[in-house]
Amino acid sequence: MKKILPSILSADFANLERDIKELESIGIDMFHIDVMDGNFVPNISFGFPIIESIRPKTDKVFDCHLMIANPENYVEQFCKVGCDMVSFHIEATNHADRVIQVIKNNGKKAGIVLNPQTPIESIKYLLPKLNYVLIMTVNPGFGGQKFIPEMLEKIEELAKLREEKNYNFLIEVDGGINIETSKACRDKGADLLVCGSFLFGASDKEKTLGELLK
Ligand code: DX5
Ligand code: ZN
Repeated sequence: MKKILPSILSADFANLERDIKELESIGIDMFHIDVMDGNFVPNISFGFPIIESIRPKTDKVFDCHLMIANPENYVEQFCKVGCDMVSFHIEATNHADRVIQVIKNNGKKAGIVLNPQTPIESIKYLLPKLNYVLIMTVNPGFGGQKFIPEMLEKIEELAKLREEKNYNFLIEVDGGINIETSKACRDKGADLLVCGSFLFGASDKEKTLGELLK
């Protein structure tokens, strides 16, 4: 089943609980949480305390996207503060297999993220172990950027590989998702679609949500 995951990076941080509840009320059951360290990406978002404080406010799924250098140093703590899914960038670590093991040993779903320039080849041997692969459709660091259309081919390639080898990871996409790009990504095989500025900027979120999945 295809799903839209609102990125709370575009929420009002002074009213996070209100924004989460509003999205829950229109049927959202997974939230995308962007952690940026000002090192792996040229921006800083938030860390453990914010996740800990919103965790008791909802029982929905927290999908944590770590845009941090050396995720091996922090990944266990992100599991412990209540993330249900944790993904890290392959470009950010030399210890990918170990990071996956830590996430899984903590009972969470493990994902790897690929920047636009990073080929699928770089994670080929890890694919059987992953619960999901996140294809960045913009360069990570900021909300509101323009979708990179060449990424559609990458989604298609990954979906093909999944079918050939009978893998069961989900394909997630992140960056520049709107009604048009959502459809294009789903047509190529994406299952989970992160949406930030487009959904939060919509005056009628319920209607927009429906359009994003049409
Ligand atoms: C970008 C983040 C995204 C971002 C998406 O680095 O990983 O999750 O919030 O925002 P939009 O949908 O505005 O591109
Ligand atoms: Zn993200």
